[in-house]
Amino acid sequence: MTETLSNTYTNVGNDIQSVRGKYVDNTAHLSTEPKSLTELIELIYQAFATNEVNIDYVHTIMRNYKGNMREWAPYLKFQPNKYTRNLVDAGNGKFNLMILCWAESQGSSIHNHTNSHCFMKCIQGSMIETKYAWPKEGSENEEDAMRVISRSELKEGMVAYIHDSIGLHRVENPSHTDTAVSLHLYVPPYDHCNVFDERTGRTNEANVTFYSIGGQLTANE
Ligand SMILES: [Fe+2]
Repeated sequence: MTETLSNTYTNVGNDIQSVRGKYVDNTAHLSTEPKSLTELIELIYQAFATNEVNIDYVHTIMRNYKGNMREWAPYLKFQPNKYTRNLVDAGNGKFNLMILCWAESQGSSIHNHTNSHCFMKCIQGSMIETKYAWPKEGSENEEDAMRVISRSELKEGMVAYIHDSIGLHRVENPSHTDTAVSLHLYVPPYDHCNVFDERTGRTNEANVTFYSIGGQLTANE
């Protein structure tokens, strides 16, 4: 399936199923087996060369990419107090590819994705993804607990996909003894999102920042 990039900004109702078959595939000539992180990045750039994006193709190359610690080393930066977001490639404004490092038992807040397509591949350890339904309109005063849609383990090598039309999620490293690492692709990039209180459904806007860019620590960290 493909999707016009501009639609990802405006059409909240699109999900990975509903965009299937709407556009002509422009990735048929591209490899589906990236042999390295560099090749994965090159293929993503080629897939995004026009304004139409084949979501199935992007999912396939994310799934088929194996990679190794040597490639990820510049981006492996763990912190004791919070997971870190490390930008690998800014995608010419069309996407962000990043590596997230999760120390033992670290997890994210419940959050949305600002109408971006999010692909998440567990590349070391394992993760738990809990998906939540959006709080009901006007439920802020009622303080309803948020409803869990699904909870699944993302084992090493597996790829998950989420979009606002599917719901919200929280991602965690469930291990008390091992770190975890995940590779994330966001299409298009975004610099803020909303975080949600599980008990009440209340939400606040949050800026999303990078702990490092291209392997270099950022000034605000
Ligand atoms: Fe997320």
